[in-house]
Amino acid sequence: MSFEDNTNPLTTAAGAPVADNQNSLTAGARGPVLLQDLWLLEKLAHFDREVIPERRMHAKGSGAFGTFTVTGDLTPYTSAALFSEIGNQCEMFVRFSTVAGERGAADAERDIRGFATRFYTSEGNWDVVGNNTPVFFFRDPLKFPDLARAVKRDPRTNLRNPENNWGFWTNLPEALHQVTIVMSDRGIPRSYRHMHGFGSHTYSMINAEGVRHWVKFHFRTQQGIENLTDEQAGQLIGRDRESHQRDLFDAIERGDFPAWKLYVQVMPEADAADYRFHPFDLTKVWSKKDYPLIEAGEMRLDRNPGNYFADVEQAAFTPANVVPGISLSPDKMLQGRLFSYGDAARYRLGVNHHQIPVNHPNGARLVNTYHRDGAMRVDGNQGGVPGIEPNNFGRWAEQPAYAEPGQAVGAVADRFDFREDDSNYYEQPGDLFRLMTGEQQQALFDNTARAIKGARRETVEKHVSNCAKADPAYGEGVRKACEVIGAL
Ligand code: HEM
Repeated sequence: MSFEDNTNPLTTAAGAPVADNQNSLTAGARGPVLLQDLWLLEKLAHFDREVIPERRMHAKGSGAFGTFTVTGDLTPYTSAALFSEIGNQCEMFVRFSTVAGERGAADAERDIRGFATRFYTSEGNWDVVGNNTPVFFFRDPLKFPDLARAVKRDPRTNLRNPENNWGFWTNLPEALHQVTIVMSDRGIPRSYRHMHGFGSHTYSMINAEGVRHWVKFHFRTQQGIENLTDEQAGQLIGRDRESHQRDLFDAIERGDFPAWKLYVQVMPEADAADYRFHPFDLTKVWSKKDYPLIEAGEMRLDRNPGNYFADVEQAAFTPANVVPGISLSPDKMLQGRLFSYGDAARYRLGVNHHQIPVNHPNGARLVNTYHRDGAMRVDGNQGGVPGIEPNNFGRWAEQPAYAEPGQAVGAVADRFDFREDDSNYYEQPGDLFRLMTGEQQQALFDNTARAIKGARRETVEKHVSNCAKADPAYGEGVRKACEVIGAL
């Protein structure tokens, strides 16, 4: 409906005309309001319920619609209909976000950026719910709620607390890779348009012959990487707390449509057993020399949502949204996420959140579930179709043709300490550090010192020691920078 159409009358939610939207119904000009002011009651009652829970993480975000076009041949790896031919297209919705801040937080903060993509494919919604970094702080989902406590506000002061944050990270040495990226010059992207995106986890692809490969997804910005220094970001936030939202919205409005190329790294299934890095460890990347990037397609964002709440706030992404030919891996973190996102959506939006237009599998030919009822069921509830399967009519039958090939998994159920399995968590952050120019290394030292200032001396020492294990010059640089600004 156009908001420029001024000819229609104002009505109540039930469609009755509203006679007066300025003056409450009162007993006399100076008397109290009457309980029978139905319009006042309706207006206030609706207003009182307008806020829904914000996302526990990634609460502040921006979204846009667009199109994905297949430009590379992935048929040797996947049977997904989307990738069946070069030139295939599907609609997309993408939401970018910061992680730690609340719904009203400033955009230009030093933080990871969420990079959640939805492909409305003919076989259902495929979501790659990634970040702008290829790795994460740890590799066991049991630690995720602890991360929220570490990066969000202190329970007493309601302030962000460097000791909570760094005390947690430094006790998890596997976090150093991610911490190094976040504290580097890439830690504050200039905008959402100027950063890469990563699926981060290892996923799998299964081809028409039933052969499985492990894959990683990389979205590479076509706008170029651009970042802000701490100082630039501080000044920007003083002028504009919504700099990322403004940048994305304005670019799309003026027809300057941002694009990312999608690439995959592909590992044959059997390689996982003896690859030199644990291939399902989210704190590590796969070497591009071992597994080069293979072009898959291009995503271009060309439409701003008509209503932020309807599309962006109500979007419910989940890594559990996979389609035939694209699937999961034994990555423990991914396993944890498969539960958490649907669970969060049921809490935040309700059991029928799939019906909200942005979440509906708009590209799918059919949506036939026997799920019934639940709050806010508004799509006809499958009418008179009896909800039984099997039935005598072959109605909505399961599709064995889509079964995945079996997967060998470890036999003993236990709580395994991954550090006993693989404690190689300093090599990759060290490699990353050595790839940086001297200027970038200095930025890393200084950003770290500013961020860690306020943590206990013991915590700062522990971080210096972790950095030194990655590279002595990394430890030394952070130590000096901390001394200069009095963080140590
Ligand atoms: C949002 C849990 C790890 C990327 C969320 C939300 C939860 C959550 C509960 C809010 C969802 C909602 O209300 O709709 C977890 C858990 C994790 C985990 C339990 C680990 C066990 C990760 C990782 C990534 C990631 C590794 C990236 C690789 C995101 C993104 C969003 C998000 C992009 C925002 C989605 C959106 O735009 O709506 N996470 N998360 N998370 N998470 Fe995670």
